[in-house]
Amino acid sequence: MAESLKLLREDARDCRNCPLWKNATQTVFGAGSQRARIMLVGEQPGDEEDRRGEPFVGPAGRLLDRALEAAGVDRGTLYVTNAVKHFKWEPRGKRRLHKTPAQREIEACRPWLEGEIKAIRPEVIGCLGATAAKALLGPAFKVSVSRGQFIDSPYAPRVFATFHPSAILRVRDEAEREAAFKSLVRDLTLLRSTAPATRAPQPDPARSSAPRSARGRPSPSARRGG
Ligand code: URA
Repeated sequence: MAESLKLLREDARDCRNCPLWKNATQTVFGAGSQRARIMLVGEQPGDEEDRRGEPFVGPAGRLLDRALEAAGVDRGTLYVTNAVKHFKWEPRGKRRLHKTPAQREIEACRPWLEGEIKAIRPEVIGCLGATAAKALLGPAFKVSVSRGQFIDSPYAPRVFATFHPSAILRVRDEAEREAAFKSLVRDLTLLRSTAPATRAPQPDPARSSAPRSARGRPSPSARRGG
């Protein structure tokens, strides 16, 4: 598992699957425990993540950290990644303003996300916001309608969506912002209660000589028949 993820990360470094790499500093691959039972998927790196090369280390990441702490989830036990691995932005004066990735950019990045899921084999995937939810649960999925509900998915036994931390940061009214934060904490608590944080070390499936059927769940694309 560790080996396949390492190779994937190295391959993703030079990704040219779509033009987003041209204006980004670097590929921001997922990070966290390779034994994680819980995977969180965000949208794309922000300005700070782009510079530092790690997911969720900017303002949204700090809000996520607060919510995880309130939910009693140790971030060190999770694997955290994004649907899109390059920062998409437009200039506004001296600032680089986030731009929502297009569907074709999400599709271009899908092999990396599916590769991470295949390597980690999480029990639960939490989609943070609409982009991640649409990438993993289909374009018709609406976070506003189905937030916090487990959805059948070929990617993991349990997949659900909740608010994106950036969306909470954008809420102007303090009481509404606090209510949204509490909802995020509730959803993250649900994650914790459904999957113990990490599993015991396992052999790397890519290196195993056992036949695929004997190695546990097939990959998402294999299970979709693709
Ligand atoms: N927003 C995201 O979706 N991901 C990050 O890594 C940072 C901000």
